[in-house]
Amino acid sequence: MKVLGIHGSPRRGGNTELLLQEFLRGCRDAGAEVEEVFLRQLKISPCLEIYACQKDGQCPIKDDMKPLYGKLVEADILAVASPIFFYAVSAHLKAMIDRCQALWAKKYLLNQPGAFGGRARKGVFLAVGGSKGAKNFDGALLTMKYFFDALDRTFDRSLLYKGVDAKGEILRHPTAMAEAYALGKKIVEENAE
Ligand SMILES: Cc1cc2nc3c(=O)[nH]c(=O)nc-3n(C[C@H](O)[C@H](O)[C@H](O)COP(=O)(O)O)c2cc1C
Repeated sequence: MKVLGIHGSPRRGGNTELLLQEFLRGCRDAGAEVEEVFLRQLKISPCLEIYACQKDGQCPIKDDMKPLYGKLVEADILAVASPIFFYAVSAHLKAMIDRCQALWAKKYLLNQPGAFGGRARKGVFLAVGGSKGAKNFDGALLTMKYFFDALDRTFDRSLLYKGVDAKGEILRHPTAMAEAYALGKKIVEENAE
């Protein structure tokens, strides 16, 4: 079973990075093959609205998104982590998501169900926000819902932590790291059944 972890934070060693790595450790311990992608290390242009993808499902922009499309589609479990920035996902992650308009076009305009492999695949979202606002995650959750749908994935679960701001503060959260590890292990075990 393949698990792809996408790190959406610009901060090295930050809260979502630690959280996702713990989730992925759980996946590995349950026997999954894990790959990690750090979006901050890649050059991914925002969507330029060329609309070429509406004709063939391919984005004409040549950058680091190219090799990522196949991985985003193929992974059995896609785990995406992002800090909350202005009640949304990070700009690094949003650029990647917008470029997945090419996959949305395959699904909804070009009617290519075969493009997604025809097997159940899942999406998981991990997010951390510094404030404690009641609506902290609403914007990001809506984005992730439609992102996973465009990739023809079930939005399986999310792990959301608020009031966690300073770098590495997630390590002092009473339950977060244990929950991330347990979820990674559980989701792989469930999928293997
Ligand atoms: C540009 C920017 C915008 C932010 N906006 C929010 C916000 O709207 N809500 C919130 O709870 N935290 C906000 N934060 C705080 C981060 O979500 C918080 O520090 C988080 O722990 C960062 O995770 P990371 O270490 O994985 O990057 C913002 C931080 C930055 C730098």
